[in-house]
Amino acid sequence: MKLTLSVIKADIGSIGGHIGPSQKLLTAVKTFVAERGKDCLLDYYVGSTGDDIAILMTHRQGSDSPVIHGLAWDAFVTGTRVAKQQGLYGAGQDLLKEAFSGNVHGMGPAAVELEIEERPNEPFLLFAADKTDPGAFNFPLYLAFADAMNTPGLILSPKMSKGFRFVIMDVNHTAGDRVIELVAPEQMYDIAALLRDPERYVIESIWSRATGEQAARVATSRLHNIAGRYTGKDDPVMLVRTQMNFPATGEVLAPFAAAHYVAGGMRGSHNMPLMPVALGATTSYFDGPPLVSCAAFCVHDGRLTEPLDAFSHPFWDEVRHQVTRKALDMRRQGFFGAAMLPMGELEYTGITEKLGELDKGFKIRQVAARTDTAA
Ligand code: 13P
Ligand code: 13P
Ligand code: MG
Ligand code: MG
Repeated sequence: MKLTLSVIKADIGSIGGHIGPSQKLLTAVKTFVAERGKDCLLDYYVGSTGDDIAILMTHRQGSDSPVIHGLAWDAFVTGTRVAKQQGLYGAGQDLLKEAFSGNVHGMGPAAVELEIEERPNEPFLLFAADKTDPGAFNFPLYLAFADAMNTPGLILSPKMSKGFRFVIMDVNHTAGDRVIELVAPEQMYDIAALLRDPERYVIESIWSRATGEQAARVATSRLHNIAGRYTGKDDPVMLVRTQMNFPATGEVLAPFAAAHYVAGGMRGSHNMPLMPVALGATTSYFDGPPLVSCAAFCVHDGRLTEPLDAFSHPFWDEVRHQVTRKALDMRRQGFFGAAMLPMGELEYTGITEKLGELDKGFKIRQVAARTDTAA
């Protein structure tokens, strides 16, 4: 029977602004999942990245199970009560609806689920990013699954040489899931043409062409498309299976050394470099820089190992320094040009009203008839 890995994450309140959840809040969520999960979960892990709490659950109920989604929703509702008692900032921030209706899609929390035939060795990675959006994973996933310069496995492994199938979603389409399937290596340039716009086209999943197995899944929710106004960034989670017919763990981690610029940081409105951080890290400078954690696991018969912290290795200290330098460079130009997101991304903030008011002040200048031109 297939094993399902479900990750459901939400920001339900944090200390000192959007920095990180309190221990009491984390404990409340963990205790709830442990209690309620006794009958329906094989195992679970609860962790935080910035102000977001992610619940990883293993079970046999398949994707979109009302039992599993209901468990996570109720854990966040219970946590929100604690957040309110403590006066945490943004208590219940990502719980956008009152009543639970079967699954968390469209309700605020982000969800990723993988239904897998468990391999005898089943290593996988749980990435959680804060102060950014799902498009942040376009760059590392493209390199890890389509670029032999990053991933020698694409040359060395016969199965990986058959390439991968990318399912890419147009997240601006709110009436339903608008997706396209493209295969690497044949359609590399088509994939690149879409992925270069990470605010609109987002990798949803990646599949092995050799075996049909699913390799990766990204949470593609866009909060502003649900709430119709700015409520917080769509801080994404992602599951990636590694080794054997998939890229090695190191091939998946390596692209994060580029410290690429992503949408996020202060008020969800800026371009800032993405910083790989330790599990449980909090947010700081300029409500950022946007951060990403990676918990590496193996799972057997649904039982998880303890998480290993993939970005706590000393190698990443140098990358973090580079991120700091890149963040300071970008911040030097304040709100000008490339430092901030384009208008289309800011339209859910108050600036729309301000520009609307200012627009009324514009006048078309009357140009006096010119008399100096030669007939
Ligand atoms: P080991 O020899 O340590 O198993 O590593 C194999 C590998 O391919 C790592 O990328
Ligand atoms: P979060 O989405 O992580 O809550 O951050 C919101 C924000 O605007 C920080 O400046
Ligand atoms: Mg927050
Ligand atoms: Mg957050």
